[in-house]
Amino acid sequence: MSSLEAQISLYEPEIRAFQPASAADLEQFRIRFLGAKGLLKTISGEMKNVPAEERKDAGQRLNAFKNLIEATFDAFQQQFAAGVAAARPKADISLPGSPIPMGTRHPLRIVESEIISIFENIGFSVATGPEVEDDWHNFTSLNMHEHHPARDMQDTFYVSKDPDWVLRTHTSSVQARIMESQPLPIRVICPGRVYRNETISARAHCFFHQCEGLYIDKNVSFADLKQALYYFVTRMFGADTKVRFRPSYFPFTEPSAEMDISCTVCGGSGCNLCKHTGWVEILGCGMVHPNMLRNFNIDPEVYTGYAFGLGVERITQIKYQVNDLRLYSQNDVRFLKQFQGI
Ligand code: PHE
Repeated sequence: MSSLEAQISLYEPEIRAFQPASAADLEQFRIRFLGAKGLLKTISGEMKNVPAEERKDAGQRLNAFKNLIEATFDAFQQQFAAGVAAARPKADISLPGSPIPMGTRHPLRIVESEIISIFENIGFSVATGPEVEDDWHNFTSLNMHEHHPARDMQDTFYVSKDPDWVLRTHTSSVQARIMESQPLPIRVICPGRVYRNETISARAHCFFHQCEGLYIDKNVSFADLKQALYYFVTRMFGADTKVRFRPSYFPFTEPSAEMDISCTVCGGSGCNLCKHTGWVEILGCGMVHPNMLRNFNIDPEVYTGYAFGLGVERITQIKYQVNDLRLYSQNDVRFLKQFQGI
């Protein structure tokens, strides 16, 4: 073995194992190997003793040795320049991690999907419609003519006048669109946002959410309506919940009723939610008015139907005891977080 090869082999393991603890260690390494009187210089000096026929190989060997020294030096120099001690790991794995906050479903969405799945179980399918409506679908076709006093029941936001375009005041507009476009029988549930020109308070808001139900077929009766709603209530609030129907008025249903359920908070003994009556109102309903059927060329002598409209905020308020409507749209994370995992 030539003396050049012997020396390279001697120093190589040391270079490979080199681990400086400080910048001073690295500087010593530089002087020892790369300095003006360093080992690289000394070993290169051996080249002149190598026989001519071995010189090519020896040159390559020397070059690789030089590259090893330089690469080792460069790597550690970069680490020290970045202020990171060479021997320490880059990240402190003993530190606690920073948590990634989990999102939550909005309570209204949670309740809306529950309402939908309960009605889907008894054969309803979901239908939707536009939030900006024309007069025909929001009012006139629903048996509310221009001067009908019932229009005053709902304070309307007008998008334009003549022709009238409004922000829909109820999801009954979707009823109208479905009767206009779909073949009979019809059995749909229509969730969506509705708008009314109300002053915002704990108990009223200028937008809220409804779910409309519509079933039209031969021989549909008020008993069918009661049965479907009773099924809904027991699934949503539990088998012990009682229902009662009070006669009411809606222009597009005849007869009409409002449905109350026994108070789920106090069980009937009286509390704030039921205003000490033991009952809370949850929806309006009735048999589809023959005039409305005629408006869509459905013969009221052959077909009958029922419709109901319930407020999603109302159901959510009862289910989760939320007593201020404004909470639903304030995006307060402390409020929303309570619904995590539901
Ligand atoms: N559209 C009515 C409202 O918003 C509710 C309703 C729907 C009543 C369907 C009867 C039938 O007050």
